[in-house]
Amino acid sequence: MRKTIVEMLKSAGENFISGESIAGELGITRTAVWKHIQKLRENGYRILSRERHGYKLEDAPDLLLPSEIQVGLDTEIIGKSMEYFPIVESTNRTAKALAYHGAADGTIVVAEEQTGGKGRLERNFYSPRCKGIWFSVILRPNFLPHDAPKCTLMAAVAVAEAMARFNLKAGIKWPNDIMFDGRKLVGILTEITGEMGKITYIVIGIGINVNMNRDDFPEELRDVAASLSEMTGEELSRVELFRAVLEEFDKLYREVSESGFGNVIERWRKYNVTLGKKVRVISAGDCGDTFTGKAVDLDKDGALVVETPQGLRTVYAGDVSIR
Ligand code: BTN
Repeated sequence: MRKTIVEMLKSAGENFISGESIAGELGITRTAVWKHIQKLRENGYRILSRERHGYKLEDAPDLLLPSEIQVGLDTEIIGKSMEYFPIVESTNRTAKALAYHGAADGTIVVAEEQTGGKGRLERNFYSPRCKGIWFSVILRPNFLPHDAPKCTLMAAVAVAEAMARFNLKAGIKWPNDIMFDGRKLVGILTEITGEMGKITYIVIGIGINVNMNRDDFPEELRDVAASLSEMTGEELSRVELFRAVLEEFDKLYREVSESGFGNVIERWRKYNVTLGKKVRVISAGDCGDTFTGKAVDLDKDGALVVETPQGLRTVYAGDVSIR
């Protein structure tokens, strides 16, 4: 209901829209409209009201509210259903619970702040209030479990393409960290639930550091994490960037569901900063085996092929640092 009110206010532009016509459109009373307007104001919308004229939207907040994100969102699957939280422990955790209870393909879970954001390899992911985009996507794909790791490449490409819309040049470090100046801008954590031969659901959690200054990061992260605003020197609209990410994600997901990951892998190559470089690999299998070599290729499954003095090694999961 509130989403429709925001939509009507936005399409009225500079004009006032009467409480009566909003009430008529929604089939509610003018008092109910006024109550919704009050709620929107509490959420940060600046709405002018003038007797005999009605309401006019002066400013919308840069909050990742469904009323900001979903209105006019050009997607077919991703974000059609959306759960918003001002604060949550981890959007991945909430998304997995929702998926377990049957949440639809493409449902997104977003929070302004995470108190226990999860990173890869059991690490924490720092997610302060309103400084970034912390969200998870629930997918119920038609492809096989062995394709699931490529979803993580798909997510990285979607963020890179969204950034490109704002002239922000992304560099993807295998498999899915987006880097600036050797520091991490975006982290992605993919969690899969299924049975032999069938994916039940995948939760892809994406954390984008948007409007953080160096001092906003805890001391221990200052040399390893970066934000988009550090990259550009100015604050960005989280709402606009988030919508772009969802739209790019939606396009890739539909394409992958219809014709496989070929194009995702090609586009990943375009953005990657790993191939051709000397890398140090801490392999997730092989009891954390560590080795160095030159990253020479990405195979058709999205695994990294590394040339070592002992021959080619294929890395399916692990931590890679560029030397
Ligand atoms: C990593 O780089 O180690 C992965 C970080 C993933 C962080 C995101 S933030 C939204 C989602 N919820 C989580 O708890 N984690 C992911």
